[in-house]
Amino acid sequence: MKRITSFEQYEKEYKQSVENPEAFWAEQAEQFTWHKKWDKVLEWNFDEPAIKWFSGGKLNITENCLDRHLEKRGDQIAIIAEPNDPNGKVRKISYKELHTEVCRFANVLKNNGAKKGDRICIYMPMVPELAIAVLACARIGAIHSVVFGGFSFKSLSDRIHDADCNIVITADGGFRGAKDISLKSTVDEALETCPSVKKVIVLKHSKIEVTMKDGRDVWWNEEIKNVSNNCPAEIMDAEDMLFILYTSGSTGKPKGVVHTTAGYMIFVDYTFRNVFQYNDGDVFWCTADVGWITGHSYLIYGPLLAGATTLMFEGIPTYPDAGRFWNVIDKHKVNIFYTAPTAIRSLEAMGLDFVKPYKLDSLRVLGSVGEPINEEAWNWYNENIGKKKCPIVDTYWQTETGGIMISALAGITKTKPGFATLPLPGIQPVLVDEKGNELQGNGVDGRLCFKFPWPGIIRTTYGDHKRCKETYFDIYKGYYFTGDGSRRDEDGYYRITGRVDDVIKVSGHLLGTAEIENAINEHPDIVESAVVGFPHDIKGWGIYAFVICDHQRTDTDSLKKEIIQTVTKFMGPIAKPDKIQIVKGLPKTRSGKIMRRILRKIAENDLANLGDTSTLLDPSVVDEIKEGVL
Ligand code: WTA
Repeated sequence: MKRITSFEQYEKEYKQSVENPEAFWAEQAEQFTWHKKWDKVLEWNFDEPAIKWFSGGKLNITENCLDRHLEKRGDQIAIIAEPNDPNGKVRKISYKELHTEVCRFANVLKNNGAKKGDRICIYMPMVPELAIAVLACARIGAIHSVVFGGFSFKSLSDRIHDADCNIVITADGGFRGAKDISLKSTVDEALETCPSVKKVIVLKHSKIEVTMKDGRDVWWNEEIKNVSNNCPAEIMDAEDMLFILYTSGSTGKPKGVVHTTAGYMIFVDYTFRNVFQYNDGDVFWCTADVGWITGHSYLIYGPLLAGATTLMFEGIPTYPDAGRFWNVIDKHKVNIFYTAPTAIRSLEAMGLDFVKPYKLDSLRVLGSVGEPINEEAWNWYNENIGKKKCPIVDTYWQTETGGIMISALAGITKTKPGFATLPLPGIQPVLVDEKGNELQGNGVDGRLCFKFPWPGIIRTTYGDHKRCKETYFDIYKGYYFTGDGSRRDEDGYYRITGRVDDVIKVSGHLLGTAEIENAINEHPDIVESAVVGFPHDIKGWGIYAFVICDHQRTDTDSLKKEIIQTVTKFMGPIAKPDKIQIVKGLPKTRSGKIMRRILRKIAENDLANLGDTSTLLDPSVVDEIKEGVL
């Protein structure tokens, strides 16, 4: 398969993609299996927004991930599944076997009432059946909505509710390090408030006991026994929904980002092959959970579309010790390794003794994703993991963009630590000032927008198109706004500086401050709270919560523990505050709006630069908060 092989070619392809985007993307689309070719490559406006790629085209993405490869690479391994326990059984699933398993499970879904267009929630551990479930949904034209297994019952029920799912696919539990984490019981709790769900399909995987509800719950392992190996793919329109994936926003509940079939497929395939410079037969390992977009695009769809061998790891980087990633790389001769800066920083902190026993000589390309990578972590990754021989691609993108937007092409684009570098062909970034004026030239700082659609762009937020318009397209007219700040340096290289809105990237996970506040406020003694981020050495950003208690509680330590438990219960352990400060009041404007700018400065311990506090309803609260800062 063709890919860019030199910087000159990148420049040429970039130019073509801007001058004639339709011809550029149509050429990428040619290699796929279509039941009917498209009528029109692109129709779009960013006002409504209404964006259609390859309309009139008919296809099924699983035929392109699976059937298309059977002749040439049927016996090649599609998925290597490394279990949590380093001595456990590794599973290797060939393309032929994966095709069969997907067809069989697609038949199970049909037997349980699933139809084209249904929304199906998947809440599973990182085992191959998770990929099989995702692909089986796509096979029959059902829309998958994967929810990260670390989310609590409340986050799960909100998501099931919002998408009006009729089926949930889960497992008894999943292994993470020394823990066996229950999933089914969380589903049971979530479903108490989700009457739309008629069936729950449960994979037997861990040792956890579960209760099965008669008429609603069935075992995957039983259902799969008596189904056919054949399941013809449902023929989908190019713009039919492929999946919904929830992402946090600065206000309210998470948004269901909608991706559609053809554009997403073409975009993840193109970006996967070019950014990582994928070679036939490479073993690719993306450490992200499938519950996040990175897992969707670069653990499942991208690698399978390219016919790669993709590695799926159920465990955690520090079990049984902090050498596990490097152990797995040697064990499976991983060629391309893609992980998050938080993982790199936390493993760096554990010391080189965990790296030394491993050769790491199979590695050719390293990737980073999800948050800015600081120079120190970049250098450590480069020297100790890549042995200065593996190019690092710092890939910038979002759930909403479907795939990588700004990144070096491995070994082709000259890299600079901390810089995502240059836009991929087809991607037209612009920086704007606060008023939305486009900043010209290099050596500028601004807010990052894109001015032209790419095939993987978000189409809508599920059930609420207005929210999609308001969040991404209304703020700066004529542009898609990312919510990130960025610098464009003298060489035209982009350095992402981070979010400019009320969401925080904690260990690479995007969390809305409003969502965390809602979870904290579930505690009966808390009347109000305000959450902001503060720089954290390992996690990138930590969570700082200012809370107001409705009566004097002297046992602050136990109150803080209870708050942490409440957040874990209502949102999940990833959203636990790192610091909790109990305050009497919050800095509010006369109209009652919390001045987060001030709280952010306090959380960062930048007390000398709080700025103007005179417009506050009660400026004295600031002094009280300053005194108690943690
Ligand atoms: C941040 C993850 C700096 C950014 C794929 C973005 C990054 C948000 C990078 C999206 C990077 C992602 N450098 N920041 N290479 N990649 N981000 O939706 O703030 O979970 O808006 O998608 O992560 O997070 P999401």
